[in-house]
Formats: sequence, structure tokens, C-alpha cells
Amino acid sequence: MKANTATVGMAGIAPRKNGTPPPDVPLADADLGTLEFWDQDDDHRDGAFATLRREAPISFFPTPEISGFQGGAGHWALTRFDDVHHASRHPEIFSSRPTSTALNEVPPEIAEFLGSMITLDDPRHLRLRSIVNRAFTPKVLARIEDSVRDRARSLVTAMVANHPDGQCDFVTELAGPLPLQIICDMMGIPEEDHQRIFHWTNVILGFGDPDIATDFDEFFRVSMDIGAYATALAEDRRSTPGDDLTTSLVQAELDGERLTSGEVASFFILLVVAGNETTRNAISHGVLSLSRYPDQRNDWWSSYDEVAPTAVEEIVRWASPVVYMRRTATRDTELRGVKIAAGDKLTLWYGSANRDESRFADPWTFDVRRHPNTHVGFGGGGAHFCLGANLARREITVAFEELHRQIPDITATEEPDRLQSAFIHGIKRLPVSWTPPN
Ligand code: HEM
Repeated sequence: MKANTATVGMAGIAPRKNGTPPPDVPLADADLGTLEFWDQDDDHRDGAFATLRREAPISFFPTPEISGFQGGAGHWALTRFDDVHHASRHPEIFSSRPTSTALNEVPPEIAEFLGSMITLDDPRHLRLRSIVNRAFTPKVLARIEDSVRDRARSLVTAMVANHPDGQCDFVTELAGPLPLQIICDMMGIPEEDHQRIFHWTNVILGFGDPDIATDFDEFFRVSMDIGAYATALAEDRRSTPGDDLTTSLVQAELDGERLTSGEVASFFILLVVAGNETTRNAISHGVLSLSRYPDQRNDWWSSYDEVAPTAVEEIVRWASPVVYMRRTATRDTELRGVKIAAGDKLTLWYGSANRDESRFADPWTFDVRRHPNTHVGFGGGGAHFCLGANLARREITVAFEELHRQIPDITATEEPDRLQSAFIHGIKRLPVSWTPPN
């Protein structure tokens, strides 16, 4: 295979010197409370959060109104690593209850489907989590390693075969379908339903982006549809058990009682949404970063297995696919001298914490060998630490392994089409090219 110099030379992605801090953004423009803020590019966001960390690390912002959703009261934005870490580990003060981990309030009619253990505290949270915990341990994941690799291999092979000119949209061909197929396999969702699941989870987390959905009725309908789908699949597994997580959910007993169908449905939705809308963006941001910083790619590719563990963590730090989670104060408290009242909302900004200058040496350097790398991309530790972290790590490792093996010069050729969202650091479209095999 010859190097794809012609195509790479035409690459339209902005050149960037690794380690360059973002442009300076005045505090007045670091206003998380406006929808316009979330339309700005990554540089502006990064610059704004750098200013907040430095000048106003805990600030109060109103919640932007998104059509159909109540904004509700505003929130205290925790932008520094130490505060995100602290709040994550003190659920008795910073609770995940009562309704939502996002900023906008979910209407009560669909809250039943969009909650589950992520909006509960222990002990109920822990008991629910224990139902599926085992399936996500490294030992059990090792058993599905081959199927993850088969899926990744087939997808990259098909991507190369279906695009003999060596160009395609990376999200459509690999970053989207890989996590989708894996989580659907784990849940026991038949192949013919995968695209429906993909559409539904996109609308649930991508609502507000004009390309995905801005019509609240559609969001409502999708929430009801996925709820009905989950309930029907659960009913099926009650009578015909399978070797999948949906069966684990319907068979589980908590305190001597089975989960209600609402509980099964919301658990199911949490798993497919979380499994689908996160790793996809880590993989896409990873390809983008390796394209921007080719020396990092060369370093990784020169000893793939040795560097993979640190490279994967760095991709998650750099991408921070989940931008924030919300908590609610259970009592009056004080953080960094700021008085927070019982009932106040707080937001834990993972992407900002992951660039905290007081925590990370050279936070603006994408370094595939970064070690230590105690990022909070999967959460700040504590009860809700990402259940799927080990799965996500495997998916990212295997996806890049296949790219390295089959099309090592794959390069982003245009700036990504970014998801307009405060919650998910998403990439909708990422044009890439590679040297087609002879
Ligand atoms: C790179 C990919 C991923 C990232 C960046 C990510 C990030 C996160 C974050 C930040 C949290 C919240 C932690 C907290 O509140 O303390 C979380 C929770 C969660 N994640 Fe992930 N996640 C990823 C992949 C996955 C996958 C593949 C699954 C598979 C189902 C998954 C399932 C979950 C679940 C179920 C929770 C809620 C856990 C609980 O409430 O106890 N995640 N994730």
C-alpha cells in the first residue's frame, strides 16, 4: 500500500500545533445559559471553560429553554477537576435524584422511560446496577471480545469494499454502527431493529439539533415508541428467555419483587442510549485527533499494542463525549466558598475538568502516551461511574486496531459536522479518506 499523500495533502481540516491553548474568551462571553453558546465551535467552548476555571470556577447559569422542555431553575456549573471529583463522590450531598441528569426537566409523561438507575441514589441504585453489573466486568467482556472484533473487522472491510475511491463518512460506516451492533447484541435486539434503535437514541440525546429533531412532538413520540418497543421485547423474553441483558432485567428480583414493566423499559433505554451515543463520538474524535496530530498517530501505529491502553484513555479525555451530568443538593452546603442551597442544581463539566491546568500537565497536548491520565471522561468516580467504561475501552481499542491493520493512513478530510448539544460532544459526520488497496 502506498501512502495516501495526495488525499492527505488536500485535507481540509484546520492545521493545529499540538499543545496550543484555545483562544482567550472573556468571562462575559462564557455564558453557558444561552443556546447560542452551544452553537459555537470547540475552540470557543474550550476557551470559555478555561476562563471559567480561572476566574469563576463555580458560577450560576440559567438553563437555556429548548422547545417543549422546561428549563426550570438554573444551575451551579462546577468547572474544575477537584470539584467535579468531590461532587461525584458525595452523593449524600450531591444527589442524582429526583428526575433527570440533564439540565432541562423531562415532562412527567415520559420521565418513566427516561430515568432508571442513573436518576436514583443508593441503595436502590446499587441494587438495580447489580442486575447487569456482571455483564460489564472485564472477565465477562473478554468472552464477547471475539464478537466485538468480528463486528469491527467486518465493518472496516465493508467500508473499504464499498468505497473503492477511498472516501466516505466515517460516522455512517464505522463509528455509528459498531457500538450500535454491540449493545444491540448484548440486549438481544434483532438485527432488523438496529436502525430503529439508532434513530430513537439519536433523537433522545440529539434533540435540539436541527438535523436530528427540534420538534418536541417527535421527541415525545420517539420516547413512547422506544418505551413500547422495550416493553414488548421484555414481554417476549418473559415467555422465551434468551442469553441477553433484557432477559436478565425481566428475571431479576429486587427485595423479592420483579421489576415493573416501566422499570424494565427505562433500564433498557438507559443501556441502549448510553451504549450508542457515547463510544461513537470517542471513536470519531479519535480519528480527528490522529489526523490533526500525525506524529501521535505515527507513535501509536509504531507499537500499536503497547500504546493502545494509554491512547484509548487519552481519546476519552480529549473527546469527553459526555459533556456534563447534573446533580441536586440535598442540603445547604458550601463549595469553594460558594453557598449552595438545598434543592439547587449543580452540573459537573467533565470536558472542562479534563482540561484542568492544575490537574493535567500540558492539558492542550493530545498525547497517546499520557500517563498518569486520571481523566473524568467516564465520570468522577463514585456510585454512578460509567457502567460501560470497560466495554467502551474494548470497542475503541478494537476499532482502531482494525483501522491500523486495514487502512492505516485514514485521515479526516474536512472539519466534522458537530452535534448542537450541551450534553453530548457529538460528531454527526466526519469525511475521511484513505489509500484504497490495489
Ligand atoms: C466513551 C464512551 C463512554 C463515555 C465517555 C461514558 C461516560 C459516562 C459518564 C460521564 C457517566 C456518568 C458518570 C457519573 O454520573 O458519575 C456514565 C454513566 C453510565 N454509562 Fe457510560 N460512557 C461511555 C460508554 C458507555 C457504554 C458503552 C455503556 C453501555 C451500556 C455505558 C453505560 C452507562 C450507564 C448504564 C451509566 C449509568 C451508571 C449508573 O448510573 O450507575 N456507557 N457514562
